[in-house]
Amino acid sequence: MCGIIGYTGPKRAARILLEGLKRLEYRGYDSAGIAVNEDLENNDTPFTVYKRTGKIAQLREIVPKELPGICGIGHTRWATHGGVTDTNAHPHCSSDGRIAIVHNGIIENYTTLKEMLSKEGFTFASETDSEVIAHLIAYVYEGDLETAVKTAVSYLKGTYGIACMHKAEPGRIVGARNGSPLVVGVGDGEMFLASDVTAMLAHTRRVVYLNDGEIVSLYPHEFSISDAEDRPIVPKINHIDWEISAIEKEGFSCYMEKEIFEQPDSIARALSGRIDLETGTAKLGGLNLSKKELLGVDAIQIIAAGTSYHAGMTASYLFEQIARIPSQAHLASELRYKNPIVFPGMLYFAVSQSGETADTLYAMREIQRRGGTVLGICNVVGSTIARESDGGVYVHSGPEIAVASTKAFTSQLAAFYLLALNFARLHDMSAHQGQQYCQKLQQIPGLVQETLKLRDTVQRIAKRYCHYKDFLFLGRNLLYPIALEGALKLKEISYIHAEGYAAGEIKHGPIALISPETPSVFLVSNDHLREKTISNMKEIKARGGLIIAIAEAGDEEVSSIADAYIGIPHCDTLFQPFLMVIPLQLFAYFCALELGKDVDQPRNLAKSVTVE
Ligand code: M6R
Repeated sequence: MCGIIGYTGPKRAARILLEGLKRLEYRGYDSAGIAVNEDLENNDTPFTVYKRTGKIAQLREIVPKELPGICGIGHTRWATHGGVTDTNAHPHCSSDGRIAIVHNGIIENYTTLKEMLSKEGFTFASETDSEVIAHLIAYVYEGDLETAVKTAVSYLKGTYGIACMHKAEPGRIVGARNGSPLVVGVGDGEMFLASDVTAMLAHTRRVVYLNDGEIVSLYPHEFSISDAEDRPIVPKINHIDWEISAIEKEGFSCYMEKEIFEQPDSIARALSGRIDLETGTAKLGGLNLSKKELLGVDAIQIIAAGTSYHAGMTASYLFEQIARIPSQAHLASELRYKNPIVFPGMLYFAVSQSGETADTLYAMREIQRRGGTVLGICNVVGSTIARESDGGVYVHSGPEIAVASTKAFTSQLAAFYLLALNFARLHDMSAHQGQQYCQKLQQIPGLVQETLKLRDTVQRIAKRYCHYKDFLFLGRNLLYPIALEGALKLKEISYIHAEGYAAGEIKHGPIALISPETPSVFLVSNDHLREKTISNMKEIKARGGLIIAIAEAGDEEVSSIADAYIGIPHCDTLFQPFLMVIPLQLFAYFCALELGKDVDQPRNLAKSVTVE
């Protein structure tokens, strides 16, 4: 949510900032801007600022190609306070233009601060909460930016990741973090500060993650970190092993298409080195729980949002079915305020691709505050949830850039299938059953590859159905969360209204929606629930509804009832979620494409939601 980049070094800052912002655009894309120290000779002049609404491409149009300046900050915005206007775009400056700031987060007490600063004679140009930070720093500044930032943030209530510069301190960038991620990039004679590593991956792989309450001061050749009490922090330098190709489109029309087609590889990476065929178990090193502690787990609770919630919900079925441990998935935004229950033997998982989702992070902290153990299932290494959880599993799907999550979802499933196996093997599952399960899991990447061959079939169906205004997605058991995920994918990138339901539930209300104008997408499992789902399909047909069915290839009964049919490869019912979700992702993608929508950056959304 909002992207921040700062650069200080020998190169032209504007070029690096614009390139970094392009990488960060997925975090927010309603407006963007940069501020650079163009006039190094004269410290009394204001910073040079370019900002405008729209995408980074539009910002590029107004930034002179050869803009000088070797230190600068940039921002791509996802609006919270104040509409999408050029003035509300960041950077924001002090009245004399000599302090420039970019901010990610929400300043909850900004009206009080604005009143206080207005009385002191400061004038405000924008409607944003962020602008108060620039004036506040100006108000407390006494010749040292780091000290001023420390004092200024002590006035702030809310969340922030801030990067700022003062014209009187050329080449220096100061950053502060509370609740919104900030990462220092350590280069060779140059330094970066960004909201995530993708912004600087082309320049350095050596990064330092800031913790809440920390302040960083950067110069081209050095940086220092201190905490709120002014104690120096010894930085831990992490090495990022993502390839730059992982954040390129590599010939695909958009990131979402690339990420859908990467899934055989990303699932294989999530499983790699973690399956022990001999013992029929999984090897998961980072759980930080002894066998005895794992054996003592008698309830599993999962916290997540959006697509990660759907992965968690699928896992809750799995834990109950194969490990026989009561399990429930919770929407993080609900759980936090529900007065959640924690008791010995209860294990929590926080699932998050970005590892920065505020709802999930705050719910996790609430559980930990009550003495609960929370394991993280994250993709982004070094992310806040990954660092603050009590242990966990990285899903290794590689950077996911498209706002619509696809490959992270199937990698989260893979991690949960491994975890469920371990719990099952501690309870009822025999070694032989464990080995069979491992073999089936190993086949998933290949089966997903096969399923992706349905691309043209799904595209044809999407062309036929994309003009309908409402859809239902229906499934049972493990396929119910997958139906929810299919509906989420469709609404998020094509803006078509879609609802996911448990297929058995439609007769309790949603069936009233059925008409020739509302197609239903049925996910038909190949187990004892198949017949029941087929009965639900017939109920829809009897009421004039249209049906798109996804079932096993060669299921003539299903294909004869459905108006459109997608036949996925055969696999054990337990593993069908991996395959069923593929045509749903493709369907959403092709509908959005057909309707001319911006697939990677759908309206109103951002990849990483770091506000509540
Ligand atoms: O980074 P997270 O997995 O915590 O993100 C959670 C949701 O914001 C995310 O899954 C969102 O629903 C996606 N846009 C779905 O495609």
